[in-house]
Formats: sequence, C-alpha cells, structure tokens
Amino acid sequence: MTEPQFDIHLDENEWAPQLRNDVLTGLTSAPKTLPPKWFYDDRGSDLFDQITRLPEYYPTEAERQILLARAVEIAEATGADTLIELGSGTSDKTRALLDAFTATGQLKRFVPFDVSEQTLIDAAKYIDDEYPDLSIHGVVGDFERHLAELPKGGRRVVVFLGGTIGNFAPKQRADFLAQIVATLEAGDSFLLGSDLVKDHDRLVAAYDDSQGVTAEFNKNVLEVVNRHLDADFDPTTFDHVAIYDAENDWIEMRLRSRVDQTVHVADLDLDVTFVAGEEMRTEISAKFTRDRLTAELADAGLELTNWWTDEAGDYAVSLSTRR
Ligand code: SAH
Ligand code: TRP
Repeated sequence: MTEPQFDIHLDENEWAPQLRNDVLTGLTSAPKTLPPKWFYDDRGSDLFDQITRLPEYYPTEAERQILLARAVEIAEATGADTLIELGSGTSDKTRALLDAFTATGQLKRFVPFDVSEQTLIDAAKYIDDEYPDLSIHGVVGDFERHLAELPKGGRRVVVFLGGTIGNFAPKQRADFLAQIVATLEAGDSFLLGSDLVKDHDRLVAAYDDSQGVTAEFNKNVLEVVNRHLDADFDPTTFDHVAIYDAENDWIEMRLRSRVDQTVHVADLDLDVTFVAGEEMRTEISAKFTRDRLTAELADAGLELTNWWTDEAGDYAVSLSTRR
C-alpha cells in the first residue's frame, strides 16, 4: 500500500492573477458577469455537496442510478486500468465505478483531478483507505488548461460526471472536447454525464431550491471575491435568480442587486456600480438531447459508442472513443 501522490499545477501564485483578470473583465462588462470556476473554495465545495442531497436536485441520484446499473458494462467496454476523473469533487458516485472496475481486477490507478485542492486531497485519502490496492495520483489543476499534464500510460478512461460539461459556454465546450480528443491515446475512452432537456419547472427548481442552499452557493462567489481581492460585496443585498433560457437550452444563474450600490474592489482599484434590479450572470448549466450531444462529440472527433439513461430519462451517461 502506498500513499496517494499529488501533482499541483495550480497554486495560489498561478490562480491569483487569473482571478484578478476574470473579475476585472467580468465586472467591467455589460452585462456584468462572474466566472463559475471561482465558486469552489472550501465553503463552495461544501455547499455543492449539500446541493447534491437536495430533493429538487435530481441529477446526482439519476447519475448514481445509471452508474450502479451500468458499471460492469462500462468496465468491460473500456477495459481501462486507469480511471481519470475530471472535476472529481468528493468522487462520491465514482465509487460505483471503482467497485466494478476493482471487482474485475483490472483497475490499477485512480487519478482524481480538481481545482479545489482540499476537497481533492480529502477525497483521495478517503478512497485510498477504501481501495488499498489502488494507486492514487491526484492532480490539482484547471481542466481548461492542464489536460496535457494528465498521467500517461496504461489504458485510460477519462470520466467527467455531474453534468459539469453544461457549465461551459458553447465555444469553451468545443475547445474542451477538442482537448479531450488530443489527450486520448488509442484504446482510451471518455465517459460523460450530462443532464437532459426536460420540463422547465423541474429544471428551474433544481437550481432554485426551497431551502435556499443554491442561493447560498451562488452568493458564495461574492465572498470569494471579497476575501481574495479585498472587495466589499454585501451578499445580503443580492438575490439569487435562476431562469431557463429555452432558446439556448440552458439554466442561467444570476445575482440581482436589491439596491442601488457601489462596490469597491480594493485590489483592483475598482468601483463597480449596480442599479437596483441589475442582474449579474454567474453560471450557466446547459441541458442536452442525445442528437445534440452526439453531434458535438462528432465535431470534436469523438464517436459515441454507448448511451445510457436513468429510468425516468432525466439524465444520460455516454461513452465515446476517438474516431
Ligand atoms: N463530479 C462531482 C462534482 C461536480 S461539481 C459530481 O458529479 O458531483 C464540479 C466540480 O468541478 C467541482 O468539484 C469543482 O471544484 C470542479 N471544477 C470546476 N471548474 C473546474 C476547472 N476549471 N478545473 C478543474 N476542476 C473544476
Ligand atoms: N455541474 C452542476 C450543474 O450544472 C453545477 C451546479 C449545480 C451549480 N447547481 C449549481 C452551479 C448552482 C452554480 C449554481 O448542475
């Protein structure tokens, strides 16, 4: 049994200038935006974990259902000895895969990859205790920039769960898929979880829960900016907004200023004014159809080989390989 190993591609020296740049660009745009990557500090990761347990937030259980039902099939279809998980968070549902892959005796290595260092380290240690024969190689990085740094060798399956693919804008998503293709070697495969287009009220409820956890999560990005850039956002003066954009088929999360106000961002030497009712975009979560996803994968050079949904047809897990 060996201790988990970690590669850190994203330390504070690296992400601090990016945060500055993202916040400066976003807060001086019209309409204003704040980029989603910065949701996941320790508190944000914890709030997201609470979201996955909310009754309204169906994707987590739908995805778990699919993984439990199909894990053996996935293990056989991929033949992988290395499981790489992008945006792994707590890697909770991933256990369904790890169980099936270790039962067949094929799995040697687990590579969780996340921007949130502490969450990644905790998850890696937990999994190391549960799967003592597995070698664990955690990577702290940005999956938009560091895919080339993924450990090579063996037969790999790259897993991207939670519907996180939906959090990219269309152009970013195409770039991301192109980088996935560039990373895959012959015999490797890509396992993707994606949320599907459905009744709009259910979609909105999943991003605007009755307990207000998603609202807290959304407002947490203001705390991140306050802490790292010495800003004076008062989160209680913003309301959480989730709407479904039927033209683009995505949920859009916003923060709406309740009052006329000026926020000072000391580290950027920036004053930002909001009028009462002004909305700032913080996140999108795109919803897919099988046809649309198949086409986007094909455009990137990936061929979809398997498509599984939960019983209700709310959510899909797909497997693809390089063409
Ligand atoms: N896979 C888990 C968590 C999904 S939440 C699940 O299915 O429940 C999205 C995860 O992606 C978070 O853990 C967040 O820290 C991570 N993440 C977000 N943006 C990222 C980026 N640019 N690079 C790497 N990880 C990122
Ligand atoms: N990947 C998750 C999703 O799109 C992220 C998420 C869930 C999220 N709820 C959120 C992001 C609320 C921002 C705000 O479903």
